[in-house]
Amino acid sequence: MMEEKGVLEQPIQLNLGCGERKLAGYINVDLHGSPDVRHDLEKTPWPWPDNSVTAVTLSHVLEHLGRDSELFFNIIRELYRVCRHQAQIVIRVPHPWHKDYLGDPTHVRPILPEGLALFSKKQINAWQAQGYGNTPLAHILDVDFEIIRVVNYYSPEWDAKLRSGVLSAQQVQQASEQYVNVIKEMEILWQVVKEDR
Ligand SMILES: C[S@@+](CC[C@H](N)C(=O)[O-])C[C@H]1O[C@@H](n2cnc3c(N)ncnc32)[C@H](O)[C@@H]1O
Repeated sequence: MMEEKGVLEQPIQLNLGCGERKLAGYINVDLHGSPDVRHDLEKTPWPWPDNSVTAVTLSHVLEHLGRDSELFFNIIRELYRVCRHQAQIVIRVPHPWHKDYLGDPTHVRPILPEGLALFSKKQINAWQAQGYGNTPLAHILDVDFEIIRVVNYYSPEWDAKLRSGVLSAQQVQQASEQYVNVIKEMEILWQVVKEDR
């Protein structure tokens, strides 16, 4: 009996730019070291079929990819192509205002939730309805990703102020809008939207 495409096929989980941190149950991919698959993520197409991937981890990787915007957009298009509707993408990145980001010469672009929101058709449509002219990247590239959750991880000294009650969560959040080295890293949960395809 033939498998119905996308239903009985084994879903794929990708740990892209895995480095030494391989994940069980994932295809661990990197340009260097001993991954399961050695692939340069800046080279497209990636070696997985359309709509084959249900989960992606990009831990401290996206800020290393696509110095040129067109190259970055190709990576985003490729991520969208291989993922299924509702695939979950966990993106972990250093905060662009933290010295961890600023001090590494292999970091080529800051990643912020505000930038990733440009790849959401729902968000772009809402902005357009309000008269805002944010670049409609979701429509230009014909991709669609929703931000489900953003978790900020504060640097130890700010985390200590928060935990001891010296500062409230709101005060630390306000500090992160004004000062460097407050948020150390962020974890963004991104979800693929393909329901109309
Ligand atoms: C900072 S390390 C993070 C490693 C691991 N994900 C972790 O969280 O510990 C970045 C990784 O991305 C990989 N990488 C950078 N550019 C890449 C590319 N174009 N294609 C594939 N992997 C790449 C590097 O080889 C490195 O292993």
